[in-house]
Amino acid sequence: MKVFVTQLIPQAGLTKLNRAYPDYHINSEEHVLTRRELLEKVKGADALLTLLTDKINEEVMTAAGPQLKIVANMAVGFDNIDLQAATLRGIMVTNTPGVLTEATADHTWALLFAVARRVPESERYLRAGKFKGWGPLLFLGNDVSGHTLGIVGAGRIGCAVAMKSRGFNMKVLYTDKSPKPVLESEIAARRVGLEELLGQSDFVSLHVPLLPDTTHLMHAGSLSLMKNTACLVNTGRGPLVDEAALAEALKNGVIAGAALDVFENEPAVHPELMKLENVVLTPHTASATIESRSKMAIMAAENLIAGLAGEKPPNLVNTEVWK
Ligand code: GLV
Repeated sequence: MKVFVTQLIPQAGLTKLNRAYPDYHINSEEHVLTRRELLEKVKGADALLTLLTDKINEEVMTAAGPQLKIVANMAVGFDNIDLQAATLRGIMVTNTPGVLTEATADHTWALLFAVARRVPESERYLRAGKFKGWGPLLFLGNDVSGHTLGIVGAGRIGCAVAMKSRGFNMKVLYTDKSPKPVLESEIAARRVGLEELLGQSDFVSLHVPLLPDTTHLMHAGSLSLMKNTACLVNTGRGPLVDEAALAEALKNGVIAGAALDVFENEPAVHPELMKLENVVLTPHTASATIESRSKMAIMAAENLIAGLAGEKPPNLVNTEVWK
């Protein structure tokens, strides 16, 4: 069996893989493989352990060959994989849900506070030697406690973000296809439509998966429904937000701030966003804790090993391929 890992992942996952497939192949370069390198390296692979930076489409599946059985993605999101093409070919696709929920929710809160209290902006100011003494008007931000949090998409991560608001006595609104009784009983959250959520929230946090109908969910029109004092937080996927429209909204005071961990064309960030002080930017690190990334690597390895052993992988996404 040829197993190929597209990039260095935490050792715990490699150790697991090594026990089952000691001669696994890995891209040990520090860079994401170029398209050409990826197409070359996957040749003859029975299994791929991939990252969200690898676009796994028909071209890659063809380059690998008909023996390819499983693509084990080390991420909860799998929009980097053409699921339909994989399913048509009977290739199993797996992801790593659950183990990164709390870390991602924690980072969402780090971003929410950072933008509300202007942390990176005021730190830049201080480090530039501009702090000449306490000032009654210096870096006034927004209250978090007692304000309204809007969760767009109350899946695992959205729910975890909502539950963490308990310490801040917030009113919580959420959108989702189905009601979340836990949120309603534990924190009196209210399920509303997107328009109502955008109109009433002081912080809007995005947690829906990236799908054709969620692409540019936040466009000029939806941004204009938000309060001009509100902030947008995105730890989901970059293309949920039209970055050009967001930059305009931030420049024109349509909304007060934004905090983004994900971008439309990663690793590129819209140049207009880079110029603005009322935006907090992190390099897609919401799940980047030692613990979470190790668990993700182990989970991806376990999925891969199970799939190659002819067992149903614990986190099979396209269950239709399992007969
Ligand atoms: C991270 O973005 C993930 O989907 O795991």
